[in-house]
Amino acid sequence: YQNQSPYEAVGGAETIEKLVSAFYARVAEHPDLAPIFPDDLTETARKQTQFLTQFLGGPPLYTEEHGHPRLRARHLRFPIGPKQERAWISCMKEAMEEIEFNKDWRDAILQRLALTAHHMVNQIDENS
Ligand code: HEM
Repeated sequence: YQNQSPYEAVGGAETIEKLVSAFYARVAEHPDLAPIFPDDLTETARKQTQFLTQFLGGPPLYTEEHGHPRLRARHLRFPIGPKQERAWISCMKEAMEEIEFNKDWRDAILQRLALTAHHMVNQIDENS
């Protein structure tokens, strides 16, 4: 039990799939995010499921299919400012609430995701 990865502790594949689907439902509706994402989020969600699985200590599904994540490099072609960073984190936080993500792990995982999100910022917001 003590040696469980966060991935296992929070409920494994079933939880990650629920989280990703609740998350992209919000992304699709968010005025600061929807415009930079593709209309069809199926493939995006599939890759994010793979990524979050390995991010939380589960099997390295993302790397197996796509190689090293190089997340910042892969995000450079999208304009991501502090506004998008905040929006991403708020969608993730709400998705966690919606699916009743494990309360013992929620804050720690959100904090790590927020560090990654901050690292993706590649633009300065206009008017701020
Ligand atoms: C892909 C936006 C943060 C993980 C993408 C795509 C966009 C995007 C527009 C491309 C979607 C597509 O073409 O299918 C953003 C914005 C962020 C953010 C606005 C706010 C800071 C993050 C964070 C993570 C992440 C924090 C990881 C925890 C990914 C992954 C992909 C992706 C794994 C797929 C990359 C690939 O094509 O293989 N993101 N992202 N993103 N994002 Fe983000």
